[in-house]
Formats: sequence, C-alpha cells, structure tokens
Amino acid sequence: MKKLYLFANWKMYLDASESEKLARAFGKISSPRGSEVVVFPSAIAVSAVAPILKKNKLSIGAQNIHWADHGGFTGEISAAMYKDFGCTHALAGHSERRHLFHESDHDVRLKLEAILDQKMTPALCVGETLEERKAGKVEEVLERQLHSAYANLLFPKGIDLIVAYEPVWAIGTGESCDPKEAERVVELIGNSVKKLTGQTPVGLYGGSVSAENIRHYVDQPNIQGVLVGGASADKESWSALIEKLS
Ligand code: 13P
Repeated sequence: MKKLYLFANWKMYLDASESEKLARAFGKISSPRGSEVVVFPSAIAVSAVAPILKKNKLSIGAQNIHWADHGGFTGEISAAMYKDFGCTHALAGHSERRHLFHESDHDVRLKLEAILDQKMTPALCVGETLEERKAGKVEEVLERQLHSAYANLLFPKGIDLIVAYEPVWAIGTGESCDPKEAERVVELIGNSVKKLTGQTPVGLYGGSVSAENIRHYVDQPNIQGVLVGGASADKESWSALIEKLS
C-alpha cells in the first residue's frame, strides 16, 4: 500500500473557534496507517489549531504566504511567521490565488522559493481553466506553470516535492475530473517535473473530491493523495472520506 497524502484545505470556510473544534474532531478520526494528513486552516486559526493537530500527529500548513520574510507588506504573512507557529507545509499557486487574486507564475515561483528557504514543504497547485481545456491547451498550460515554478530551482533532497493537479473547473463545482484523465495528467506532470528537477514528485489530485469518488483517485498508480476543499471543512464529510480509505 502506497503512502497516502491527505490534504485538507479549509479555505475561508471557518472562523477560529470553528477551526479549533474541527481540529479536535480530526484528531479523533484515524487516518490510514502511514498516511500524512496536513490541514491548511485560515491564517487566524493557525495558532489555535497547531497544538491540537500536533498532539494528534497531524501536520499544519499555510494556505498562502508572502515571499519576503518581513517588511512593509500590509495584510501579508511570511513563511517564516507561519513556521514560527508550527506550520511545516504551505500551498503555492492555488488556483483561487492565481485567478481571484491575479497571482502570476512569477509570484508563485517566489513563494515556492520562500517556502523552501524556511525548509518547509511546498505543495504547488497547477491546473487549467475550462476554456483552456476546451481549446486543447491542458499540456501547454501545465508546462508553463511547472517550468516557471521549477526551472533551475535546486529542489532540496529530503523535502517532498508535491504537485497537486487541480483543474480550475473542478474546484468547488461538484464536477470532479474523470479519474483516468486525472491520472493521465498527473503522470504528465510527473514526467515534466522529473525533467526539470531530476526528482519524482508526489502527485495529488484536487477538485470536488468526496467520499463517493476518493477511492477512484487514490487507486490510480500515479496519484498519491488528494487536496480536499469543501469536504474537508466538515467533520462528517471528512470522516466519511477517510472511512473509504480503510
Ligand atoms: P473542493 O474540494 O471544494 O473542490 O476544493 C478543491 C481545492 O481547491 C483544494 O485546494
């Protein structure tokens, strides 16, 4: 049985006390042996949630970081600051950041470097929009995102190189990607990343993952786990999803 990566992105769904409550519930849900669960709470919930997760051997990550360590960046939080609060992981290039907040490939690269500078584990998110898919541009878009993120980057050994394939049209829509297609794309991503960095990435799938479909993804040979949004922000749906893995 391969090691599974189960990432829970709580986005902006929960306030601090709701997050704290859900973190306690996560602690009581036993995930498959050897799996790695990482929770990405909102920034204001990190300090409350971190000790609870740690006690239950679950990891915590930042949803987004600023690439500078400190400085005059109103409203921003650095990777160093998240690390100080116990975060071991951080997302970079989530499609909501790219599309709603206009983050460029260059911004994503800077974030990736800042996360690695802190010896944290970055999880890069890549994926195409529906228009791009309809125009037959999936490979081109992913190649651009991956090249910008990893070209000439000395990715340190000993840190998981994680890439989540999250097609934009599948996020929060209930329209999940066909598992065979997700597998095809994750394999392509793996080949590209190998060429760029010499390392084999951990490939995740994200986009409307639920208890009904999770098995179809993690049973694919190249998909090592999932990045879950909506279904991770609720005790019942997360435990239903985890139950499908045992
Ligand atoms: P949903 O699971 O809500 O579609 O969100 C996916 C996602 O964006 C995880 O980062």
